[in-house]
Amino acid sequence: MDNPINIEPKVIDENRQGEATLSAPSGKSNGKKLYLESYGCQMNFADSEVVASILANEGYETIRNADEADIVLINTCSIRENAETRVRNRLTDFKRRKQEEPGLVVGILGCMAERLKKNLLEEEKLVDLVAGPDAYRDLPNLISEVGGGQKAVNVLLSREETYADISPVRLDEGGVTAFVSITRGCDNMCSFCVVPFTRGRERSRNPQTIVQECRELFEAGYREVTLLGQNVDSYRWNMTSKGEIKNPEEDTTNFAQLMEMVALVDPKLRVRFSTSHPKDMTDEVIEVMAKYNNICPYIHLPVQSGNSEVLKKMNRGYTREWYLDRIKKIRAIYPGCAISTDVIAGFCGETEEQHQETMSLMREVEFEYAYMFIYSERPKTLAERKYEDDIPTDTKKRRLNEIIDLQREHSLKANVAQVGQVQEVLIEGRSKKSEDQQCGRNPWNTMVVFPKTKHAKGTYIQVKITDCTSATLMGEIVE
Ligand code: SAH
Ligand code: SF4
Ligand code: F3S
Repeated sequence: MDNPINIEPKVIDENRQGEATLSAPSGKSNGKKLYLESYGCQMNFADSEVVASILANEGYETIRNADEADIVLINTCSIRENAETRVRNRLTDFKRRKQEEPGLVVGILGCMAERLKKNLLEEEKLVDLVAGPDAYRDLPNLISEVGGGQKAVNVLLSREETYADISPVRLDEGGVTAFVSITRGCDNMCSFCVVPFTRGRERSRNPQTIVQECRELFEAGYREVTLLGQNVDSYRWNMTSKGEIKNPEEDTTNFAQLMEMVALVDPKLRVRFSTSHPKDMTDEVIEVMAKYNNICPYIHLPVQSGNSEVLKKMNRGYTREWYLDRIKKIRAIYPGCAISTDVIAGFCGETEEQHQETMSLMREVEFEYAYMFIYSERPKTLAERKYEDDIPTDTKKRRLNEIIDLQREHSLKANVAQVGQVQEVLIEGRSKKSEDQQCGRNPWNTMVVFPKTKHAKGTYIQVKITDCTSATLMGEIVE
């Protein structure tokens, strides 16, 4: 973990610099072993399951031990410089193996592949294959090109690809929680962000395939789905961005409607989603959340800054007042809904007063959690072209630490308030710290740890909260 600043790392995303190594069964084997490692956000994790599925169909067996692999694929992230540095460091681990075994195929997938394209082949000599996020269907061909002694690159971005028809191989067989992509790409062009360059234009996936995937997951024993998009609120099917109907014969679907369709799959299937965008989140979304017990009372609503001028430079499309109004609406329509956020410290030109406004917004909202980052300039973004990255690193770090300290207070306060409550927890498995404990999240997305029960993962249980830290709740089972 190169990102020690998350006080509540609960999702596999770049916010927690999630790293996943994956294994999957394969049908007819072609004798080749594939090792897949993922960095970055939940969407990358979901994509790795699509990749595993595409290659399993070609007979590749996905394994967990890199040393036994014939093919190593690394699904990468570019969001901040340190995300890329991490992958480059990881590549050195494979250098020696490649010298001993020149036949080993090493491929880079995902956002770094898209950002750096064939330059990656020049910069990292051991890399044989580079495939961007919309090129995964081409992986079997790319791998055979490499087998023929060439280097292979496909970084074409698509306006249509959603991998809607591909049933992802779930790499945590027997799992409880799953990610389901509902959109790809992003059209927002926040000035600090590399995602529109690495993921391309935004497109929504056919709602029927989403519901079908959720239904299959439920039938396979999964009890929680997280609907994923860079901006889930701009999900739209059969509608243009201006709201015009594309095909009059077919229904239109917006995000609130999609969420409702997924909630109706089964009352025992928890529904979560990420990420909401303050400029696009409608009251209808909050109303649907409040209507269904199985849609979790938790919204991740990244604010980035509490100052309207900075928000304007960030091209976020809302002001401080607008953001606070969204918070007011959530509290009015769905009292008790937990809210988390993302904050960037030290964006170009940020003054001390502007930083203080971020702090004051945090005090006003009292977020349950936050993911907090130092601004990292990314090549080709609007901010890189237009503004100077002029806040000294020490100042950025000091501001970040102030933000972290404040958030820790708020998270602790929110958790302390839950001590004594009886909450429904979905058991996710054994606790990481102890064999004698199990863990799972409450509806508000906080991890709860409790003494091991006779119940298997995937079971809902009632837990009485007895103690907490700023990151975790501790409890005991209520029979
Ligand atoms: N689509 C989501 C964010 C995805 S990236 C949204 O719009 O909210 C996750 C978080 O990384 C962002 O919310 C932002 O806080 C942070 N981030 C993105 N680019 C960054 C950069 N250049 N430097 C530092 N943090 C960044
Ligand atoms: Fe990046 Fe903004 Fe799109 Fe989020 S909404 S992915 S921050 S451009
Ligand atoms: Fe990283 Fe790409 Fe996700 S840049 S955060 S892996 S969309």
